[in-house]
Amino acid sequence: MAAARDRSMARVTHVAGLRGAVARLRERGRTVAFVPTMGAIHDGHLSLVKHARRSADRVVASIFVNPLQFGPAEDFTRYPRPIRRDRALFEAAGVDLLWEPRVADIYPEGDCTRVRVSGLTEVLEGAARPGHFDGVTTVVMRLLGAVQPDLLWLGQKDAQQAIVLERMCSDLLSPVSVRRGATVRESDGLAMSSRNAYLSAAERQQAVALSQGLASARALLGAGERSAARLAAAIRREWAGYPLVNEDYVAVVDAATLQPVRQVRSRVLVAVAARVGPARLIDNFEWGTRK
Ligand code: PAF
Repeated sequence: MAAARDRSMARVTHVAGLRGAVARLRERGRTVAFVPTMGAIHDGHLSLVKHARRSADRVVASIFVNPLQFGPAEDFTRYPRPIRRDRALFEAAGVDLLWEPRVADIYPEGDCTRVRVSGLTEVLEGAARPGHFDGVTTVVMRLLGAVQPDLLWLGQKDAQQAIVLERMCSDLLSPVSVRRGATVRESDGLAMSSRNAYLSAAERQQAVALSQGLASARALLGAGERSAARLAAAIRREWAGYPLVNEDYVAVVDAATLQPVRQVRSRVLVAVAARVGPARLIDNFEWGTRK
């Protein structure tokens, strides 16, 4: 396992350099954990690095703002790219190797292969962002193919993404073990996200509605409520006090299939998405035991 570090972080761009650097990390049978990101690093990413360090001998991270997972009207061009700050944060957190591929490294000339997970990707985020998950699965499959890690660390904040990628790895018989790190929150409960940077001061104050709505639903579940409609109504009641928060969806779904449930009988994902000013924010929690 990774102990206190006396090495500096290596950086690579091209796939050949990456493969050589990973081979050196793997010397003497060392294990590798991988944290893929799109940069704009915050404490949520850093907590994944911490998990990764505890779970393997060496940690590889990537920064790649993947054009394929953004819709034409989405924020690809304005997505924050504070690369120097990101490098410094990753280095301080103990990342051994940072991969910063360019678009041509991931999507070489003539590229015509896509990875699609059906069913799980047509609901929630997939319904709101057509094609998004095809971009995510295609890029993550390529990143995994190049890094070939033992473990892949993903955040619970993007629960649907984690569920889709777990399914993809299992269906494609990938040997990687997919792990999820808990959502990291600001002191008022707002889930950390690179997109929080888009919020004005007034929007930032109201963005807390997402986690507060979820907290109301969680409290009701704890008190014995099992009706999905009443849980959703409780979230919407909470949001009514926040005029800058515009609902995209409030959903109570089976945590494995992502299909809506009427009554909570096994493990569910309570997931919300809302527009707050220019930012589209998501949050969730899982509740109950698996079938
Ligand atoms: O969660 C993200 O930052 C991205 O969707 C990921 C997994 C790095 C793929 O581009």
